[in-house]
Amino acid sequence: MTPAAGPANHPLNTVAPYYTMFKPEFPLSALEGTSGWVLDPFCGRGTTNFAARLLGLPTVGVDASPVAVAIAAAKLVATTAQDTIDLTEHLIRTHRDAAELPFGEFWRLAYHRETLREICAVRQGLLDASLIGDAAIMLRAVMLGALHGPRGKSVQSYFSNQMPRTYATKPAGAVRYWQAREMTPQYVSVMDIVERRAQRACGGAPPAVRGMVLQADSRKAKLPASVGPFSHVVTSPPYYGMRTYMSDQWLRNWFLGGDESPDYSADRQLDTSSPAAFAKDIAQVWDNVADHSIAGCRLSIRFGAVPSVPSDPKELILDSLERASSDWGVLAVNDAGAADSGRRQAQQFGFVRSKPITEIDVTAILRG
Ligand SMILES: C[S@@+](CC[C@H](N)C(=O)[O-])C[C@H]1O[C@@H](n2cnc3c(N)ncnc32)[C@H](O)[C@@H]1O
Repeated sequence: MTPAAGPANHPLNTVAPYYTMFKPEFPLSALEGTSGWVLDPFCGRGTTNFAARLLGLPTVGVDASPVAVAIAAAKLVATTAQDTIDLTEHLIRTHRDAAELPFGEFWRLAYHRETLREICAVRQGLLDASLIGDAAIMLRAVMLGALHGPRGKSVQSYFSNQMPRTYATKPAGAVRYWQAREMTPQYVSVMDIVERRAQRACGGAPPAVRGMVLQADSRKAKLPASVGPFSHVVTSPPYYGMRTYMSDQWLRNWFLGGDESPDYSADRQLDTSSPAAFAKDIAQVWDNVADHSIAGCRLSIRFGAVPSVPSDPKELILDSLERASSDWGVLAVNDAGAADSGRRQAQQFGFVRSKPITEIDVTAILRG
């Protein structure tokens, strides 16, 4: 057991779930006993950044998705539950009557009107450009984590009617599901849920470290001179065929200022036209990472395949390293076992969406 194994399960890391997140044990084992800056160019919810914080290492996360960035940013802040609660109270008080509410059958069945009013008040307040700081970052992530999920029997942990935790379903399907089961939304107090969640996420959080989380395309993102160069890169690129990081997060994206309905044409993060085109795109990321890293930088990759899109994850990731102009030497390729989180999440909404995913871990070193 690593010294950090206990705090690895600190609720700050689970402040909001994220589709295809990895467990902190993977970055922790890659980083244990090391020093220097840590990068994750596909940071998702910021698990690598959280692991770096546990180990006292400075760290940077980059992701193209605003939802991922909003969640990952909370992994690096130092704030108190009380500051987060006070801010929530202030935003609900000042924006409750003025905030615009989305309308339509989905919204009527997804949230109780009063809960939606409180959500919209916090949303409006957080969208105010002048509102920055650690408490706002924490509140944003807490709200994203509570926005949708399963209904509790007595205590409620989520604002919504029955929904999955990690992704938001298509509005028409969700409406059909609720109507068929006569499920109407109950009133849930935003204040109560934020209070409980903020206390869990902020209480006993590990000491903060230097670093930042950036919304950018890792194929070409340029990082500020104040961070890096990186000694360790721990990451998990999107699995080939996984194209729904934006559209499946549409409800959280709405909370961050996006549209009131999903846009299923907007999932073009990497070129997925063929495995070769995909490997070429990932190679650009390895080159960009190399530009910001020291010689000897260690790259730890977790990668897998989507059951519905047959591909060889090992071949694909090794191809991406070979295609890179930078000199990455592969040290090891190991089986990481089967991940079934996608299946678990789908079960919460009443249907099984996918089979378990087989994953591999690849370690490489930057030569020269
Ligand atoms: C497998 S997930 C990473 C999950 C992460 N390890 C965690 O624990 O949450 C891959 C991430 O890559 C991001 N992504 C896809 N294309 C990207 C690009 N061109 N630049 C930066 N991030 C990208 C997606 O938004 C997604 O969050």
